[in-house]
Amino acid sequence: MIAYNILPGLNLKGSIILPGDKSIAHRAIILSAISSGKTIINNFPANKDCQASIEVFLQLGIKIKQDKSGRIVVFGKGLKGLTKPKRPLFIEESGTTFRLLLGILAPQKFEAELRAGKALSRRPMLRVIAPLREMGVLIFGKVAKLENGISEEYPPIIVRGNNLKGITYSMKVASAQVKSAILLAGLYANGSTKVIEKEPTRDHTERMLDLFKAGIKHQGKSIVIKGGRALQTPGNIYVPGDLSSAAFFMVAAAILKQSEVSIKRVSLNPTRLGIIKVLKRMGADIKIENIKSKANESEPMGDILVKSSSLKGVRVLSKDIPSLIDELPILMVAASCAKGKTIFEGVGELRVKETDRINSMLYNLKKMGVDIKSIKVGKSENIVIHGVNQLKGAKLKSFGDHRTAMSAIIAGLAADGKSSIDDVSCINKSFPEFLRVLKSLK
Ligand code: S3P
Repeated sequence: MIAYNILPGLNLKGSIILPGDKSIAHRAIILSAISSGKTIINNFPANKDCQASIEVFLQLGIKIKQDKSGRIVVFGKGLKGLTKPKRPLFIEESGTTFRLLLGILAPQKFEAELRAGKALSRRPMLRVIAPLREMGVLIFGKVAKLENGISEEYPPIIVRGNNLKGITYSMKVASAQVKSAILLAGLYANGSTKVIEKEPTRDHTERMLDLFKAGIKHQGKSIVIKGGRALQTPGNIYVPGDLSSAAFFMVAAAILKQSEVSIKRVSLNPTRLGIIKVLKRMGADIKIENIKSKANESEPMGDILVKSSSLKGVRVLSKDIPSLIDELPILMVAASCAKGKTIFEGVGELRVKETDRINSMLYNLKKMGVDIKSIKVGKSENIVIHGVNQLKGAKLKSFGDHRTAMSAIIAGLAADGKSSIDDVSCINKSFPEFLRVLKSLK
């Protein structure tokens, strides 16, 4: 546990470049490992989750090293090049590694066991297991009954690889991790695999598959992949800065007086832009500059300039939630400092993130004097926030969750007195440089 004291009264000024996007980096490792030949990954983030992806592929027989310039070099062995791991694969707390890996292991000729850290072992896996079972893999999770009597499955999970058949699958929850696991398994399946999304989720897997010439096709709201085609490495991949990390500085610059922050070379993938759209609707002074439509021949990026703004409350519809799912904690901080009421509709998925983020953010923001509540609506939930003129300094908790911790720190900067947070070590999961970058803006 590493406690941290937060002193308010700062204004943030300066220009920053952030480590590469976590979601894109995971996919870069995975597809490089199962394509043939050398792939060099630039601006790969040095966080715990992405390290978990590297560790796992090392154990699956892939050579990966870091060169003198800090780039990650992956020596891929083709679709059939992975080898049986000598021991159970330990995925730490990386949900993306865990779920995407299930899709890669399902078609292998060996059995593997996937284990996870404490928090990830409590996160639901049936959403990925069910479609993979339909494709023909034998897969066994730890079964538990939920309060409503429905069965769920959790890590550890044993995957007994098998020949897979292509399926057509309509997504039950909006989840890029689930979609990606199915598409990755589809790479190996007999025939075509089709995933139908109700609402679009982040499309990094599709873009990366396209970059590796997997022959992926879009048909309206569906994505189709044909099995059996060898992947071709693009040779070099640049991972643009992480928009989810940028979000903390965007909100900080908007809510702290006399601030002006420029964030360079950030991923501007259209399926992730919810945070920018909502902040703009709230009245934030945000400009996007130097847009490059293709940072790595598949992902757009650009610079984001944010200045102090007076924010107003808005209504965010459930259809827009997938485009800002990871930014909800920091958007709740923005809403707490905005004039009037903000409603985030259909945010039930927050209950099954690294921690229950509805619980963690309600706990912290209530302590800071915010009128915030969650309301059950059908199977999902809405969050309603009435902004306050001034947040109160308070003793805050991270609940072991990186995004709750970073959101609490930014809220603390906007408070009227000193705040503290019980543990910030969890920030290493996605953004170990966070406090250093924040200090560089003072
Ligand atoms: C991710 C997808 C999202 C997101 C997570 C990263 C990804 O999860 O919350 O941080 O890289 O595919 P879900 O697929 O569970 O929505």
